[in-house]
Amino acid sequence: MKTKVVTIDREHMDMDAIREAGEILAAGGLVAFPTETVYGLGGDGLKENAAARIYAAKGRPSDNPLILHIAELSALEVLAKEVPELAYRLAEKFWPGPLTMILKKSEIVPMATTGGLSTVAIRMPSDEIAREIIRASGTYIAAPSANLSGRPSPTTAEHVVEDLSGRVEMIVDGGPSDIGLESSIIDLSGDVPMILRPGFITKEDFEQIVAEVEYDKAVLATKPQDSVVAKAPGMKYRHYAPQGQIYIVEGETDAVVSTINELSAKAAEAGVRVAVLCAEETKERYTCDKIFSLGSLKSEKEISAHLFAALRAFDTEHITVIYSESFENTKLHQAIMNRLRKAAGYQTIQAK
Ligand code: TXA
Ligand code: MG
Repeated sequence: MKTKVVTIDREHMDMDAIREAGEILAAGGLVAFPTETVYGLGGDGLKENAAARIYAAKGRPSDNPLILHIAELSALEVLAKEVPELAYRLAEKFWPGPLTMILKKSEIVPMATTGGLSTVAIRMPSDEIAREIIRASGTYIAAPSANLSGRPSPTTAEHVVEDLSGRVEMIVDGGPSDIGLESSIIDLSGDVPMILRPGFITKEDFEQIVAEVEYDKAVLATKPQDSVVAKAPGMKYRHYAPQGQIYIVEGETDAVVSTINELSAKAAEAGVRVAVLCAEETKERYTCDKIFSLGSLKSEKEISAHLFAALRAFDTEHITVIYSESFENTKLHQAIMNRLRKAAGYQTIQAK
């Protein structure tokens, strides 16, 4: 299949391109599009065949449910069977935006979309291009991250082209993703609201709206054995991992810098292609030849926005060992470390 790549300027949206994307989706085809979190691989969420095509294009196991993307709040009652009052409060505060809610599904949502579950994941993105495409399709758009299964989620259209060229009808380029990590997922289908995936909206943010909210145990995993009981089925699969091995070095900043310098020098001496993953604040202190800075710890979104691109760059540059700082001192540390720990296969080194 030939994939059409179109660039859409946010300031002057090309409504013909939006209409074409909508038509492809309405006809059961696949369109990858930007969102504020990561790029999504969209298909008609009410069509079993479209879901099957999404799974095939990603090479994803079909027991891993998809998020339905909506453009209007009224869609909530169409897709969910019972909408608790809390869902409306969360929607009012965080939608459109990087929040996915799990609710009991209505009859019209096919099991093919929910991976056989009786619940459904729903999100209203804030990205204007995404919302225009959803509207133009006239349906609700099932969209996992637009990467091949196992690879880091795409934060630019180039990443999507790398993974999905020839597998989808259209890729819409709307520039780099703002947040760079997938949406926060909160499960409202049980007794206590449960965070299944940490994201830009943090537990503290949720606590402003709801008195009691818990993390699913797998979210806080620091060892592989903790993560296998994940409640979001997708969280159990191997994710984000580059070909090389990442080691997260933890401890006081000075100790982390000297330990990473020691280890990377040793690796380079042994002929290993080694890199350091760090923040802007410390990057000048490393002696390694290859240094990847994710940006400043002071900025809310820089570290998150650049993480997945760095993980992809390690592969492009054939890096085999990566020593990484631990990004604990950022607002989004829960979300960032959740992805980084998985990418590292939970391997950590204590700095001395
Ligand atoms: O930011 C995002 O959420 C992006 C953009 C494209 O919107 N999408 C995304 O989709 O990250 P995906 O498919 O890569 O991740 C969806 C996660 C998976 O871990 C899946 O298991 C979980 O959501 N999920 C979906 N439906 C669920 C359900 N009914 N119950 C529990 N977990 C669910
Ligand atoms: Mg994904």
